[in-house]
Amino acid sequence: MSAAIQSVVVPPKEHSIDPRPVEFAFSEQTPRFWFDNDIFKTHYYNAFLTTFPPGEQFFVRSVLHFRDQISDPKLQEQINDFASQEGSHSSAHQKHLDILSKQGYSSLERENRLIDRGSKLFNKLAPKAALAATVALEHFTAMLAHQMYEDPATYVTPAHEDFKPMFLWHAAEEIEHKSVAFDVYQQVDGSYGRRVIAMVFATMGMFLMIPFRMFPLLLKDGIAFKWKTWREGIPFLFGKNGKLTKPWRHYIQFYRRDFHPWDVQDFHLIEDFRRIYEEGKLLTNVDDILG
Ligand SMILES: [Fe+2]
Ligand SMILES: [Fe+2]
Repeated sequence: MSAAIQSVVVPPKEHSIDPRPVEFAFSEQTPRFWFDNDIFKTHYYNAFLTTFPPGEQFFVRSVLHFRDQISDPKLQEQINDFASQEGSHSSAHQKHLDILSKQGYSSLERENRLIDRGSKLFNKLAPKAALAATVALEHFTAMLAHQMYEDPATYVTPAHEDFKPMFLWHAAEEIEHKSVAFDVYQQVDGSYGRRVIAMVFATMGMFLMIPFRMFPLLLKDGIAFKWKTWREGIPFLFGKNGKLTKPWRHYIQFYRRDFHPWDVQDFHLIEDFRRIYEEGKLLTNVDDILG
């Protein structure tokens, strides 16, 4: 059941963006195929989650570039909290990437170096387009985070215990800060055309990049050229209930001229997470969040 999509553009009163540094338990001892004991599904998450170190640094640079043009003190504070949250996410996913590199999945690190170089150039040469790209990609992260909290049985429960708290933590913080880049964009540019073009490119980039990053991982594990891998894998990614295609109703909201990220009111979905974290039980009582 989808959360209601309402015509309101503000988060609820109790909303706040709270950076929460956490040291997660996943390590080289965590089972290698840590999502549902499945090679393809695990490598989907490996390929996707490890884009965050260079990706989120790009988001932060894109927003900080314009911070001097923001006069609203509340948005200034939100920019700080957004940067702090994304910095912690980037570090947590870098730890994951380092483990994968040690396990011999070295392509991801190489690709990340390229993403990092390319995105720094993008920030420099076209800061407004880079901010629009960040707004588009933050819509993706907000959408995938929403999906995780809306249907944790599908998106979180099959993960190994070591990874579950990290999923819930990152997803919750993405929901908390989902409007920051958008609000900055609206104040410093606000071009609807640029935002839509950015989303078209971001979507193509995501859809091409995930299988591209997955392929060497599947190759290393000897299943890249097996028919069964793709017969089951393509629907897993792009089918009716596919990881990247299922939330299309949420996705297309972005193309409305008057869209705002808080049109999707989903702050209530993360209330249990916020409480459990405050009680210091995130790493021990994750099932209280999953319900
Ligand atoms: Fe993040
Ligand atoms: Fe984010």
